[in-house]
Amino acid sequence: MTTHLPPAAYPATRMRRNRLTDWRRRLTRQTEVSVNDLILAMVVHDGTQSRIPVASMPGTYRYSRTEAVAVAQEAESLGVPMIAVFPFIDPALKNGEGSEAFNPDGLVPDVVSAMKKAAPNVGLMTDVALDPFTDHGHDGLIDDAGTMLNDPTIAALVRQAVLEAQAGADVVAPSDMTDGRIGAIRAGLDAAGFQDVAIMSYAAKYASAFYGPYRDAIGSKGALKGDKKTYQMDPGNSDEAIREVGLDIAEGADMVMVKPGMPYLDIVRRVKDAFGVPTYAFQVSGEYAMMEAAIANGWLDGSRVRMEALACFKRAGADGIITYWALEAAKKLGERP
Ligand code: PBG
Repeated sequence: MTTHLPPAAYPATRMRRNRLTDWRRRLTRQTEVSVNDLILAMVVHDGTQSRIPVASMPGTYRYSRTEAVAVAQEAESLGVPMIAVFPFIDPALKNGEGSEAFNPDGLVPDVVSAMKKAAPNVGLMTDVALDPFTDHGHDGLIDDAGTMLNDPTIAALVRQAVLEAQAGADVVAPSDMTDGRIGAIRAGLDAAGFQDVAIMSYAAKYASAFYGPYRDAIGSKGALKGDKKTYQMDPGNSDEAIREVGLDIAEGADMVMVKPGMPYLDIVRRVKDAFGVPTYAFQVSGEYAMMEAAIANGWLDGSRVRMEALACFKRAGADGIITYWALEAAKKLGERP
């Protein structure tokens, strides 16, 4: 922050003057959420039931292919720029290698191509990580002790990313935190002719308990053996986030993400200030769940708290927010005068 002259004291200075009316508040407001800042997070499944409610995330669903297409069209008509798609994979298709992730006729390629066709003007972002597909719930390949293997995992992620690009993904988003995967995925995409497919890197992703409801939503919760602390970051670290983000940018990330969101806004601010690149925050499942639980109990006013939470990401320096609330927020923003 720039410091200018020492402020004149009261009574010459009355801070409340700029707050006295709605128009003054609007005129002096520094940051604001717009529909252009929203990335819809959504989960898809391969069954026929159009919407399967996710118990720990009231108001969110696992969408069927048909319903996912309808949601993409709705997002497009509301002006939401991008959708992040996450799969719920049939447990019978999971194994140690996550091989269903490489099935060209699998759920993700199928749904993504259908969404792309039906709603060509909304960006589609796909997750690059094996956890929805592995029976052990880890983001990559593991050794006998359960530790994720770095380099073999990278090779798998490159295959997965290229397959997603072939299906029509505009942005691939590696959410796994192995070292070196951004450069390898960039090279793999380029070699396959996908120079224009962008990479949003989950660059500073923490080993957080706030992901609990998501693992519920994609069905990996019971499956997860151990934890993800050997690849995701320690919540106590801040300088390490700067190193992680710097490496991913050097390897070719077009956009970087901090995750979780609201408890990590200090990291968002540091990353934005340090690099000045397109920076996103993921308002994760646990943040959604705790606010919705309080709203359902009447302890928080949902109509206000959801938008306030999104606005805080912008104030912290985020260029956009990945959120399960994107459609509701877009509608609400559309109501403004
Ligand atoms: C894993 C992945 C996770 C999320 C997105 N991709 C969870 C995890 O690391 O276990 C979390 C999303 C959320 O909590 O909303 N590749």
